[in-house]
Order: sequence, then structure tokens, then C-alpha cells
Amino acid sequence: MMKRTIVTLPGDGIGRVVLEETIRVLDAAGFDANYVEGDIGWEFWKNEGNPLPERTIKLLAKHKVALFGAITSKPKDAAAEALDPALRNNGLVYSSPIVNLRQYFNLDICMRPCHTYKGNPLNFIRRAANGGIEEPVVDVIIFRQNTEGLYSGIEWSDPPEEVYQALMTHPKFAKNFANTPKKEISISSRIFTKKATERILRAAFDYAKQYGYKSVTVCEKPNVIRETSGMMYKMAQQMQKSYFHDIELWNTNIDAQMMWLTKNPENYGVIVAGNLFGDIISDGFAGLIGGLGFACSAQFNPDSGIGVFEPTHGSAPKYAGYPLSIVNPIAMIESACMMLNFINENELSEKIRRAVSQVIEEGNVRTYDMMKMHGSPDLVKKGAASTSEMAGAVIAKL
Ligand code: NAI
Ligand code: MG
Repeated sequence: MMKRTIVTLPGDGIGRVVLEETIRVLDAAGFDANYVEGDIGWEFWKNEGNPLPERTIKLLAKHKVALFGAITSKPKDAAAEALDPALRNNGLVYSSPIVNLRQYFNLDICMRPCHTYKGNPLNFIRRAANGGIEEPVVDVIIFRQNTEGLYSGIEWSDPPEEVYQALMTHPKFAKNFANTPKKEISISSRIFTKKATERILRAAFDYAKQYGYKSVTVCEKPNVIRETSGMMYKMAQQMQKSYFHDIELWNTNIDAQMMWLTKNPENYGVIVAGNLFGDIISDGFAGLIGGLGFACSAQFNPDSGIGVFEPTHGSAPKYAGYPLSIVNPIAMIESACMMLNFINENELSEKIRRAVSQVIEEGNVRTYDMMKMHGSPDLVKKGAASTSEMAGAVIAKL
């Protein structure tokens, strides 16, 4: 078989170190691949006016599979100020390269698993009925629609006249906003299409069936957001009735779900949601299994076979400049395991996952987050493992 080429997209801040340590783990596990680096992130925005250069898109189109670290994003005005003076006043507007990557390649299926690691000192615990302590086992996977909804970027402040006039045709807009000057109105639109909704629902149900989950939960807000959330839930009902009788369909509202996830997280299995609510709920569940140092994700298009695998954390700028990196590489390592599953290297994936679980369970090597320390450069002297030591501990188990 031809050796695989994996595109690496380190991005900004801690993205590079967690990615480098993850490649060390992949090498040690025996994954035989070439790596080519793609440019993405803040530097390329500042210097070229484009955080996702065309050459990076070509690289991913060619090799199809990428490991992505993290990027730094800043609000509109801060981004404009950061731009190289020679590029200013050219009408360049910053937009998130990772969101653009998702949309460009239609990476519409996002999977974010949250599983309890045995022995993780950060595991969620709660008070039991008898006054004791319970540690419920979380085994949840969130299917997040990754290209539409509130993140689709169709937004205006002081909207163009035709947009404003179109909104005025809606009785509720005319009633509640007609007295507000147009200049004082900002709009972010939430668009769901049937096609994309059907694809994320099917991905969730298929997964539940394949891995024996008893339920699929649609987590939206159909009683209030009637058109978009309502459509998703209705389509889920039809799909369950037609194809997935043996799987229960549950319906929770995002707000209530955020409460229930600490009351009874063990009751949930596969959860499916739109873009924003999927983002929120997956961070919520990640908090129960150790937080951002453990939260991994896959985003892909099953038709094209293009996939990007990334930890859900960002570039953590405050820890980026440390001479010895202290951040936890497990979220990135687990994202690489999802990549291995995507390309059918299931045994390798399992091997790395087992090694990670063993290291966590033994508890001899723990990064600062696992020791509930506040990040600072001298933590390694106080017993916290560095990023590299954690990766090394995983490698030792392989
Ligand atoms: P962040 O995820 O970068 O960091 C928040 C905090 O979480 C950190 O200060 C640290 O305490 C902890 N943390 C994050 N990763 C960790 C790890 N691997 N190990 C241990 N602790 C870890 O989020 P923040 O500070 O809100 O955003 C920083 C930048 O990252 C922003 O510019 C933001 O736009 C960007 N961002 C990028 C994402 C991406 O690339 N997909 C996702 C989220 C934020
Ligand atoms: Mg998020």
C-alpha cells in the first residue's frame, strides 16, 4: 500500500506543541505516514490578510486527511488592527479559518465523544441519595451539524436596505423592531437546510445502531425556535419511525440539557444538535470528563473522505510562550485516534487509546490541569508533567 500523507495544521499558540507530541505518539505506535505542514492561523492573517491561504486548501484537497492544532481568533476590530499596515484599507475582513475550512470542504459531520477515563482526578462526582459520593460513568458522543446554523456567517450590522425590507415583511419584526433605527440593529441568521439536517441525523442514528446505544437525543429548542429546531426534531421523528425502530428518540431543550448533564449524565448516549448548541453541549459534557485537555473531535465529509481532526480547545495564548510546555496533549492524541478510525487503522487507534487510559488510571504522570493547579512556568518543578512527559508516558505504554 502507498504510504499515507497526513496534512498537519499546527496553527497558533499551543496548537504546535500538542500536534508535535501527538506525531511522536503516532510514530511510536507504528503509524507509517508522511506529514506535510499547511499554513493556517493568525500569522497568515497578519502577514497575508488570509488566515487560510489557497495553498493550504490545495494541500488538503490533495491529501484529504489533516491533523489540526488550534488557531487564535479575535473579534472584528482587533483583527483589523492586527493586519500588516500595507494590507489595511483593502476591504479585508477576518473570518475564522477553521469555520471556512469546514464550509469549503463541507465537513458537515462533527463528532465529539466524551468518555470518562477511569482514575482521572477531574471526573465529575455528585452527592448520592445516601449522602455519599457517586462518580457516574459518562459515555456520550455529540453529533454537531458543522456548517450551518448560527455559525454560517450570514450576518449584518446596520443591514442593507433590501435585507431590512425583507425583515419588515415579518409581522414580529415589524411589531417589535420597526421603531429601532436600522443603524442600531445587528443580525446573525440561523439557517438549517433539510439536506444537512438529514445528514447529521442519519450519522447520529447510524452510529447509535453500530455501537449499540439505546437512544438518540435531539438537543435543540423546538418549542421556541420553531422553524429550525422544529424541523430537525420533526425529521428525527420521521427517520426513527422509518429506519431506526429499535433506537429511542429523545428530545431535550438545550437549556434543560445543560442542567441535566450534571444531574444524570449517565442517561445520555448519542446526542445530535445544530452548530451552536452542539458546540455548547459538547463543552458541557467535556467538563464532566476532565475539560479541554481531554475533549477531542472529528469533522469530515463521508462522501469526499476529507476529514480534519482537532482538539476542541483553542490556542491557549497564556501558555503558548512557555519554554517547557505544560498543556495536556491528550485531547490532540485522542483526536488523532479518531483520525486513525476514519482511515480504518482501527487497531492502531485502539492501541493508543489503551495506552492513554492506562497512563490516566495509574496516575503517576499528570499534567497541571489534572492536578488542579493554576498554570505557571514553574509547575513542572512542583510535580506536574510537561506536555512532552505526558506524551512520553503514553509512548512507554505502547
Ligand atoms: P482555549 O481553549 O485556548 O483556552 C482556555 C483555557 O483552557 C486555557 O487558558 C487553559 O486553562 C485551558 N486549556 C486549553 N487547552 C488546554 C490543554 N490542552 N491542556 C490544559 N489546559 C488547557 O480558549 P480561549 O482562551 O477562550 O481562547 C484562546 C484562543 O483560541 C482565542 O483566540 C480563540 O478564538 C481560540 N480558539 C480556537 C479554537 C480552535 O482552534 N478550534 C477553539 C476555541 C478557541
Ligand atoms: Mg467550542
